[in-house]
Amino acid sequence: MTIAADASTLRDEIAARLGTARKRTHGLTNCVDEADLIRQHSPLMSPLVWDLAHVANQEELWLLRGVGGRDPMHPEIDPLYDAFEHPRAKRPSLPLLPPEEARSYAHEVRGRVLDLLERVSFSTGRLVEHGFVFGMIAQHEQQHDETMLATHQLRKGSPVLSAPPPDPAPAELLGLPAEVLVPGGTFTMGTSTEPWALDNERPAHPVDVPPFHLDVTPVSNAAYIEFIADGGYDEQRLWNPAGWEYRQKAKLTAPLFWERGGAGQWLRRRFGVTEPVPAAEPVMHVCWYEADAYARWAGRRLPSEAEWEKATRFDPRSGRSRRYPWGDADPTAALANLGQRHLRPAPAGSYPQGAAPSGARQLIGDVWEWTASDFLPYPGFVAYPYPEYSEVFFGPEYKVLRGGAFSADPVACRGTFRNWDYPIRRQIFAGFRTARDADLA
Ligand SMILES: [Fe+2]
Repeated sequence: MTIAADASTLRDEIAARLGTARKRTHGLTNCVDEADLIRQHSPLMSPLVWDLAHVANQEELWLLRGVGGRDPMHPEIDPLYDAFEHPRAKRPSLPLLPPEEARSYAHEVRGRVLDLLERVSFSTGRLVEHGFVFGMIAQHEQQHDETMLATHQLRKGSPVLSAPPPDPAPAELLGLPAEVLVPGGTFTMGTSTEPWALDNERPAHPVDVPPFHLDVTPVSNAAYIEFIADGGYDEQRLWNPAGWEYRQKAKLTAPLFWERGGAGQWLRRRFGVTEPVPAAEPVMHVCWYEADAYARWAGRRLPSEAEWEKATRFDPRSGRSRRYPWGDADPTAALANLGQRHLRPAPAGSYPQGAAPSGARQLIGDVWEWTASDFLPYPGFVAYPYPEYSEVFFGPEYKVLRGGAFSADPVACRGTFRNWDYPIRRQIFAGFRTARDADLA
């Protein structure tokens, strides 16, 4: 987001961002009953009531104790909400705060934070400079909101969430080319100036990227159904060895939440509603191995993280890397499908105003995009404000996802933002697009 230079506007912006996150947290936790909040809907996820109190606990740790120098409000609960102490599958057996106590703890912390915000000076060190740590906490809550949305998607039972469907894709979609050419050369990857960027997005550094072609949109359900129909799940040669092993073990035959209907039709379950799979929407709930196999089937490959960022941020006219595909302005509803405004991605080819200079669309919003790359530090990386944010995750076991989804809030989504997950992960709102090397003339 664009950060205000003067303290009073910055205070208002921080309060607004924290408020947006809390409104969403309430929306995701007030729509179900107590039993539903305490229940574990999948061993992959925490009970919703854990996320609720964890968000408040991190806010208390970083803002009230870290910035405000206050004593812990309830030191005995800290270990319960330390994500590194207890894996998700074990969290339901912990003596967690019951829903009403979790709510009042979150409410009390927020009240004190807003008091602190009124008095804080943004010039007492790096943690508060440009409101960084407040921005980090707003992003943290929004990231847990996205996780809670994934819990809702895994939850069985009648639907409890509602949102307007996406607008139809623009009529000129049929005339769109299948791919765009991104010219070769050096571009600036990462950032040293984005005030609320996290440590793994830093620092800005030059990367030489040879010319390549990139899909103009994320891969659609229709295209993915062709891969299934062509026997893509049964062709070992299309799969990376670990991917084939996982495909056998987990008996993968289609994206998560899909089932076969009658007459060759595919159905999917989306937030408690079973509906025909919409052909034009980007495919979602596929793991990295499925994305990788599809790309090989299509005679292509996944883009590297550097290729994805260059296609998104590089402006050949100025030679500069911008904040978003459309320029430096913050996202709006006309530019990208973000912030859980809809409960689904928009049809592939939507958001022409949000296109990158290359012509590629929907790089930001709609679905997270798997890239070919492992999650690794940039040259010159320095862990900040703590190693557990990113450093402990660096390595080949995680793949990088880029661009955010309909489920990601703008505060936690930008051209430099890096997400990471295991290559077997399917409950996240992830799809992909494919690339190929440019022919050398
Ligand atoms: Fe967290």
